Amino acid sequence: MADSPQVLILGGYGNTGRIIADLLLTFTDVSVTIAGRNASKAEQYALELGRKFTPTRVTWKVADAADAISLDRVLLGVNLVIVASSTSSNTHNVARAVLRAECDYLDINYARAKLKILEDLRGEIETAGRCFVTDGGFHPGLPAAMIRAAAEQMDELIEAKVSSVISINWSKLFFSNETMLEFVQELADFSTKELINGEWQEAGWGKMVRHVDFGGKFGLRNVYPMWLEELSALPELIPSLKSSGFYVGGFNWFVDYFIMPLGWMWTRIAPIYGARPVSKMLVWGLKKFSTPPYGTVLHLQSSGISNGKKCNYELRIAHESGYYLTAAPVVACVIQLLKGAGRKPGLWFQAHLMNPQQMLTDLKKMEIVIESHESDSI
Ligand SMILES: NC(=O)c1ccc[n+]([C@@H]2O[C@H](COP(=O)([O-])OP(=O)(O)OC[C@H]3O[C@@H](n4cnc5c(N)ncnc54)[C@H](OP(=O)(O)O)[C@@H]3O)[C@@H](O)[C@H]2O)c1
Repeated sequence: MADSPQVLILGGYGNTGRIIADLLLTFTDVSVTIAGRNASKAEQYALELGRKFTPTRVTWKVADAADAISLDRVLLGVNLVIVASSTSSNTHNVARAVLRAECDYLDINYARAKLKILEDLRGEIETAGRCFVTDGGFHPGLPAAMIRAAAEQMDELIEAKVSSVISINWSKLFFSNETMLEFVQELADFSTKELINGEWQEAGWGKMVRHVDFGGKFGLRNVYPMWLEELSALPELIPSLKSSGFYVGGFNWFVDYFIMPLGWMWTRIAPIYGARPVSKMLVWGLKKFSTPPYGTVLHLQSSGISNGKKCNYELRIAHESGYYLTAAPVVACVIQLLKGAGRKPGLWFQAHLMNPQQMLTDLKKMEIVIESHESDSI
């Protein structure tokens, strides 16, 4: 990348995009372009950032991920595109434009279809020498990196499970219709795979629930397995690993027991027509029924062998805001890309490309709570 690289954030004035922009301007020397379909929102936020930082470091542009011509226009001279927009259905369009513009790419979308599209472009990405980072953010984005961090703490990592609490005060938030639509469409693909005895298997009913003590204001909570593609390669990377997974709690009683099951059924029966009404109900349910305490936590519990003895390692990553906790790992990843050694041509999961210890150090600088604890097993 050039000395003062130009980063364009698609969805730069969205809930996550705006924090990514702010953190990039605070913790790196890049210049930032705020992009999205709404000129006045892009301009307003760029002006706000210009007042807070140096005006010459911030510009804005109108861009539509669905429109290749608009992408070609805005990507001229850009070094890195961060896709913080709910545009996984436009992945092919965006990835192609990024390759034409000869820049790098980092997205934060959670979507199986997106991964397939990027996988199909892997050869072209490698030949072009571009660095494409996918599944950025905190989930996906951090769980596999936390498990890699645990593997560095012991000689043989045997068990490593990451559980989460995501409790957000949705009533105060505005998000684009596409964001909720994308979320609901992903429900149809929801999988409960866990690593059991070294094999990825769907968790059986009755075995699904885990009880995890998150401590502090969250205490003991039930969590359930949720498959993330970044976990898939872990047994290959860490051959001693026999038991693993990522686990989520619910949103609130109404969303968990009524809207999620309904959404899952509806999107399977009528994937095209079902998603929009379910996404509207989801927004209503999130805004109406979510209650404090608010905050976001990722909690890793792991065990293995060090110096011939059984040992445990716990790692907790937390922040009050789920959006901040999404943005900070993206910026930690960009910091590693900018350092040169962290940037490798090819297609990578954020959780695999990042150096885990450096990531934890940089997240701490961004005021993310990082706590770790090692102990011998009795
Ligand atoms: N990995 C993680 O940890 C994690 C966590 C949270 C969210 N996410 C993902 O991050 C994405 C953004 O989430 P969010 O909550 O920040 O959403 P949001 O607040 O609704 O923001 C979405 C942004 O995307 C823009 N956008 C939508 N369609 C667009 C298009 N066709 N072209 C250009 N821009 C477009 C929107 O602006 P306009 O509509 O004005 O264009 C808006 O700025 C979603 O895909 C979500 O699933 C990931």
